[in-house]
Amino acid sequence: MRCRYTVTMRLKIVPEEQMTPKLDQAIRRGLVICFPEDAEVFSQTRAWHGSAPVWTVVLEHEGEVIAHVGVVERVIRVGARELRVAGVQSVFVLPEFRRRGLTTSLLEKAMQEAEARDLDLGLLFCLPELERVYVRSGWISLGRRPAVRADETGAEVPLPEKNICMFYPLRQLSFPQGPIHLQGNDW
Ligand SMILES: CC(C)(COP(=O)(O)OP(=O)(O)OC[C@H]1O[C@@H](n2cnc3c(N)ncnc32)[C@H](O)[C@@H]1OP(=O)(O)O)[C@@H](O)C(=O)NCCC(=O)NCCS
Repeated sequence: MRCRYTVTMRLKIVPEEQMTPKLDQAIRRGLVICFPEDAEVFSQTRAWHGSAPVWTVVLEHEGEVIAHVGVVERVIRVGARELRVAGVQSVFVLPEFRRRGLTTSLLEKAMQEAEARDLDLGLLFCLPELERVYVRSGWISLGRRPAVRADETGAEVPLPEKNICMFYPLRQLSFPQGPIHLQGNDW
C-alpha cells in the first residue's frame, strides 16, 4: 500500500463546538459526493437521522476536505449492560484519494480521541464488503448482531439486516452478549 498521507495533508480533530460553517459545508460537499443516494440529507446536515457528531476527524489537502469521520457519543444498552460508545459515522475518502490507507489514519485518530475521552468502545455499522477496511484498523466484526434504534417518536426500529456491526476495544476489551439497543437514533 502507498504512503498514508503526505506533508501537504493535514489531519485534525474538530470538536463540534469549534465547527465553522465553512468546514461544515466542505464536509457536506464530500458527503454528497461519497454518499450520492443520501445527497438530499447531507446537502442539509451532517447529522444522520438527527445523530450529530460530538467530534469530527478531517483530512484536508489544499483547502479541501478529502477524508472524514464523524463520532457520535451515546450510552447504549447491550443485554443488561450500559456502555458509553464512540459511534463512528459517515466515513469517507474522496474517490481520487482512495486505496492509500487514509481510512486507517482517520480511524486511528478518532479512536485515540475516544480513548482520551474514556469511552468504553467504538461502534459502527457497515456493509459486509467493507469489513476488511475496518479490520485493518483494529476493529472487530460482530457480524449481523440484532440491534434496534429508537426513532424520533421513541419507537423501536430494527437496524437494516444488510449491515454488520463492528466494535473497537477501548476500556471494554470484549463486546458483551445480548441484543443491542442504541437508546436513540442510529448514526
Ligand atoms: C470506504 C472508503 C472510506 C474506503 O476508503 P479508502 O481510502 O479507499 O480505504 P482503504 O485504502 O483503507 O481501503 C481500501 C480497500 O477497501 C476496498 N473497498 C472500498 N470500498 C469498497 C466497497 N464498496 N466494496 C468492496 N471493497 C471496497 C478497496 O477495494 C480497497 O481494497 P484493497 O486495499 O484490498 O485494494 C471509501 O471507499 C469511501 O469513501 N466510500 C464511499 C463511502 C462509504 O461507503 N463509506 C463507508 C460507510 S460505512
